[in-house]
Amino acid sequence: MSTAAATRRDRDLAHSFARRFAREPQGLAKAPGRVNLIGEHTDYNEGFVLPVAIDRTVIAAFAPRSDRQVRVYSLEFGEEDSFALDDIERLEGDVWSNYVRGVAAVLQGVGYRLTGLDMVIQGDVPIEAGLASSAALEVAVLGAFQHAATLAIDPRDQALLAQRAENEFVGVGCGIMDQMAAVMGRRGHALLIDCRSLETEAVPLNLAAHDLKIVVAHTGVRRALSDSAYNQRRQECSRAVQVLAQVIAARPGVALRDITSKDLSAHQGSLPDPLARRARHVVSENERVLKSVEALRRGDLLTFGQLLYGSHQSLARDYEVSSPELDLMVELARRLEVVVGARMTGAGFGGCTVNLVRQEAIDSFREQVIETYRSRTSLPAEMYVCEAVDGLRIIAGANAPASRSPQD
Ligand code: GLA
Repeated sequence: MSTAAATRRDRDLAHSFARRFAREPQGLAKAPGRVNLIGEHTDYNEGFVLPVAIDRTVIAAFAPRSDRQVRVYSLEFGEEDSFALDDIERLEGDVWSNYVRGVAAVLQGVGYRLTGLDMVIQGDVPIEAGLASSAALEVAVLGAFQHAATLAIDPRDQALLAQRAENEFVGVGCGIMDQMAAVMGRRGHALLIDCRSLETEAVPLNLAAHDLKIVVAHTGVRRALSDSAYNQRRQECSRAVQVLAQVIAARPGVALRDITSKDLSAHQGSLPDPLARRARHVVSENERVLKSVEALRRGDLLTFGQLLYGSHQSLARDYEVSSPELDLMVELARRLEVVVGARMTGAGFGGCTVNLVRQEAIDSFREQVIETYRSRTSLPAEMYVCEAVDGLRIIAGANAPASRSPQD
């Protein structure tokens, strides 16, 4: 968790906090959304992912209270929630404040002693777009509770606790990629994550040197129906592993991450459709992530771009999580010479594509991809040119106290 200087947006948020609670915030916890460059639906198969933390963030302005109440206001939703730390219940339905409640409940559940908080939250990560706005919210809130109670929590644990809040309290199945990116993203870098060991490596992007930008294109379709299909894919992967583990006499604890393409082509006959295709996507996607990292290391952005197209095809045909809108967005991008690579990003079924676009061609991308898409579909497509930024940062007053361990 690094500290950073305040921007204008930070100061505006601090003013909103002061107007609402008639005092200054103690600090601002800022966590980014992410765009996944490659490695889709591999995290819950203990595989590899390569996300980038982006300059779209959720910020929580916070100050401790002397009682055990939490009062939290969302500027985006124009709503306040309040609850007691000693009695945290999940609210009915899919409401933003369950993420706040969930983080507090999980932190306390593992033994951290929290203080009551006043909070105002503001975010500009598009919601249900496949850009991990929930993880950004969880991680920002976690940073606020952690800082206010001066708790020492290791970055990996921050990510795991945030994920637990989503899995166990909110009740949404997700892997670890989004929370890891929100905590550990690095400016100018993509983050290679081994989702089994949770080891990370920041991979330099050097995009400017190659005259490239990361452009996220939103199809204008929210990925609302994706939860059940996401869980179904997870189950299909577990079933595929069970079958493969028997035929290749694997050790216990095996995941699709351990299966090579060679194993798979030798044994895919034992997998009924669609399990063979699901497994083929995951196995080949892990290979594409590792090849992408090699390509980035040697500055071979053209190979990297081809791997992005390969990933999209595999997600569309074998994993079946794309949509006609995502396919169209990728297809329009592919026709342009100034686009080096493109694919759907995130869970799928709507949301965004990620594109590597020549810097001087951003306007023609807008005209030829976004505008053409809009006129063909009548959907409100949008695009965001993104920078790779750092993960969780705290913007705090000069007198911020030092951290202490969980049970102190
Ligand atoms: C969602 C989940 C992630 C990951 C992606 C698919 O974003 O939150 O953990 O599984 O889908 O790669």
